[in-house]
Amino acid sequence: MVKKGWLVFPVLVAMGLGGLSIHDKVYAKQEEKPKFGKNLQVLTFVKSKEELKGWMRMIKTSLGVDCDYCHNTDNFASDAKPPKRVARVMIKMLLTIRQDYFSFPNAPQPTCYTCHQGHKKPINEPSGGFPKGDD
Ligand code: HEC
Ligand code: HEC
Repeated sequence: MVKKGWLVFPVLVAMGLGGLSIHDKVYAKQEEKPKFGKNLQVLTFVKSKEELKGWMRMIKTSLGVDCDYCHNTDNFASDAKPPKRVARVMIKMLLTIRQDYFSFPNAPQPTCYTCHQGHKKPINEPSGGFPKGDD
């Protein structure tokens, strides 16, 4: 017991003396880690909270919905709402469209709005349907 006590003492002194710098180092490491996106599966390339916000604002405006259409706003990481799970597939599709078909110089960047135009579901055909027959 006595021996253990003497071992603990120098350790405590060392922690006390070095405490600030250890704390600073740990804090700096936490700062480097993104404080957003606990459950990002497709937007994994996103580098900052601002960039993620940009995507979410684009998505929200494109579909004409609020954040809570897809999110439990107390836990944004949750996948409980079905539209969020569909949206993930849609993001994947959009990234593929951009990479495979819009990578030429000065290519425009399609968005969710390109198809959705402010609707939850894009309108897939004209209101009167497609013309039938020869005309
Ligand atoms: C149409 C559905 C949809 C809407 C609307 C939407 N989001 Fe998202 N959001 C997603 C999807 C899908 C992901 C996960 C993306 C991934 O897996 O990479 C996500 C991820 C997030 C995350 C990261 C959560 C985590 O920890 O993993 C945050 C924060 C977030 N959204 C905030 C918002 C905010 C704020 C709004 C409103 C401005 C919004 N979202 C609107 C679909 C949506
Ligand atoms: C190439 C066209 C296209 C693009 C781009 C597109 N979508 Fe879609 N989306 C569709 C179609 C088509 C449907 C199916 C609509 C239906 O069921 O009638 C759909 C359905 C959805 C649904 C399900 C709606 C529901 O209530 O069932 C969500 C959510 C969605 N899209 C989100 C997104 C998001 C987010 C993006 C951008 C990352 C996006 N979409 C980009 C074509 C597109």
